[in-house]
Amino acid sequence: MKINFQPIAESEFKSKYESEDNLGFGKIPTDRMFILEYRNNAWQEPAIIKKWEPISLDPSAICLHYGQTIFEGQKAYRTEDGHLNLFRPDRNITRFNKSAKRMMMPEIDPEIYMTGLKELLKLEKDWAPKSVGSSLYIRPTMIGTEPGLGARPSNQYLFYIILSPSGPYFPEGFNCIKILVSEKYIRAAPGGVGYAKTGGNYGASFLMTSEAEKLGFSQVLWLDAIHKRFMEEVGTMNIFFVYNDVIHTAPLDPGTILAGVTRESVIQIAKDFGYTVKEEMLAIDDLIEGIYNGKVTEAFGTGTAASIAPVGSLFYQNKEHVINNFQNGEISTKLYERLIGIQYGLIEDPYGWIVRVP
Ligand SMILES: Cc1ncc(COP(=O)(O)O)c(C=O)c1O
Repeated sequence: MKINFQPIAESEFKSKYESEDNLGFGKIPTDRMFILEYRNNAWQEPAIIKKWEPISLDPSAICLHYGQTIFEGQKAYRTEDGHLNLFRPDRNITRFNKSAKRMMMPEIDPEIYMTGLKELLKLEKDWAPKSVGSSLYIRPTMIGTEPGLGARPSNQYLFYIILSPSGPYFPEGFNCIKILVSEKYIRAAPGGVGYAKTGGNYGASFLMTSEAEKLGFSQVLWLDAIHKRFMEEVGTMNIFFVYNDVIHTAPLDPGTILAGVTRESVIQIAKDFGYTVKEEMLAIDDLIEGIYNGKVTEAFGTGTAASIAPVGSLFYQNKEHVINNFQNGEISTKLYERLIGIQYGLIEDPYGWIVRVP
């Protein structure tokens, strides 16, 4: 693939953050972006790495009206010897193309995605924070850019990758969060777009999420759309419960949840630790009963942004139900240490999940 590198004038480089302590999440833009256009039924060359700057769109661009937008969320982790580690980037690329297919958008050649990402990271490496828990967040995105007010798929697209040095997703760090169970609104139904990382899934969740935040909860737990009974996922995380000594998480089959890269990895690590993992629907009423009769010993969310977040309580039917005395659980702590250890290169990666960027 041919990449044009548009130089940036010395005066245009941004000043870097002063301290890694208050990075926040996704707030700080780096200097450059990778872009590639799709026109006339083909991805165009050359791709361009240039200054991060606003993109120009026609006001009638299809993405703005009909939501033809997809994205990914990945991280580059800085290792002690100064490299950047990508974690299972192949999984993000596959998921990106699955989202593209569902949204009638063109798939991208995995090699183009990966080359663009690596080249961008090489140039932006100095933006990557050093502390464990912080990382360079990666946001690959595709939008339908063709002008036109008719409701139809776009014939032109823009693929781009932007980066942002970020701190921990939750101010709590690796400590228990509180979750509100959504009893009124639903996130995704079978046959819908729940498994796609498309903008509308997130926009549609903001009303419930902001209600939860106002009440002091970090995230919303979504129940299935049909029975409003089975637990599916949490905001930007997949959800796990330790129930009767078995680790439970929702199955991917009905296509209503995102196939989390962290979810898949945690399942593998947990099995290798010797735990039994079941990808099966678990009902909220059974869970609540289990909290009180001792069957539920732990709950935790998994996602790239937060890695593993222990869940200390669930608010459901006007009551807060506290799990494991609001303490970090033994299993989630073990999984967290293993996962983080592999991602930051602190321990050996026996799975071949890490891709190093020099
Ligand atoms: C809705 C949703 N579920 C789950 C996840 C976790 O997925 P991953 O582990 O790939 O970050 C995310 C994060 O991207 C998400 O947005």
